[in-house]
Amino acid sequence: MAEQQETINGAIITYFSTASAVGKTLVSINSAAELAREGYRVCLVDFDLQFGDVCNYLQLLPESTVADVQQGIATSGADCHVEDYLTPYVHEAATFYVMASPLKLEEAYNIKTAPMKAMLTQLQTLFDYVVVDTTSMFSELNLAVLDLSTVVIFLGIRDFFPTIKNMSIGNETLKNLHYDQNKLRIVLNRGDSQSDIPMGLMVKTLGGEFYHILPNDFRVANESIKSGVPLVLSHEETKLGQSLRELVYRSTNQDYAPEDESVAEHEMHGGFLSRLFGGRE
Ligand SMILES: Nc1ncnc2c1ncn2[C@@H]1O[C@H](COP(=O)(O)OP(=O)(O)OP(=O)(O)O)[C@@H](O)[C@H]1O
Ligand SMILES: [Mg+2]
Repeated sequence: MAEQQETINGAIITYFSTASAVGKTLVSINSAAELAREGYRVCLVDFDLQFGDVCNYLQLLPESTVADVQQGIATSGADCHVEDYLTPYVHEAATFYVMASPLKLEEAYNIKTAPMKAMLTQLQTLFDYVVVDTTSMFSELNLAVLDLSTVVIFLGIRDFFPTIKNMSIGNETLKNLHYDQNKLRIVLNRGDSQSDIPMGLMVKTLGGEFYHILPNDFRVANESIKSGVPLVLSHEETKLGQSLRELVYRSTNQDYAPEDESVAEHEMHGGFLSRLFGGRE
């Protein structure tokens, strides 16, 4: 990767959900691409450890993954340089770096939370933005990532009642963890898709208006995945391309300041796990 001249403290933007197939990977890839196009140094981390799709969607063949980082940290500790394990993605003027998910299931199973936290914090010193794609569960790793995140985009779709139920549980759980309002943004993906579930019910279930609503466009989403080019780069002029860009712009171009110092302090020292499960971190 490009030589670093200064130490920075990049923002971590995490795409999370409690429902599957809501667009976490598609939106995180496009966020990374849009920020890269704007000239920021960007790293996209695939924390869907078992079934990561980032490299599939971008048609990358990584030589190193988070499993190698874990090994490197075990061997070299703080002397492990996480930038040695990145895979570059280049499309015309946009370049960003991918920290790939493990290639084998057994490697994924053996990933531990502590080295992944160390990896993320080191990446923050190298990149303006660390964008994280996750899985749809309150795993120990996801909770640690949510804790470290500057902004959490909680994604949902309006398809079936079980999805809405899972979103509601996820949203309630996040609320109970006392995140400040600036950190957590609820985004509805494919908002204009056909559904029997009224928008009013969605809003009521989630207890507030959506921060942003992304339109449905299967053709553009599929074309982008087939070509391996994020759609903000290949289909910028479409409604979905524009809406993705707007989401990225809105969620990054404002300074993040915790509303309440005591909450920020609590997040730093207690962590999600201890608040959820009573000090088991
Ligand atoms: N706004 C959209 N319009 C149309 N299709 C979309 C949109 N967003 C995502 N998709 C499609 O939905 C499918 C699921 O998207 P994606 O893989 O990003 O979801 P995910 O939340 O990462 O899923 P998983 O839980 O399996 O990791 C993909 O085929 C993607 O192209
Ligand atoms: Mg995914």
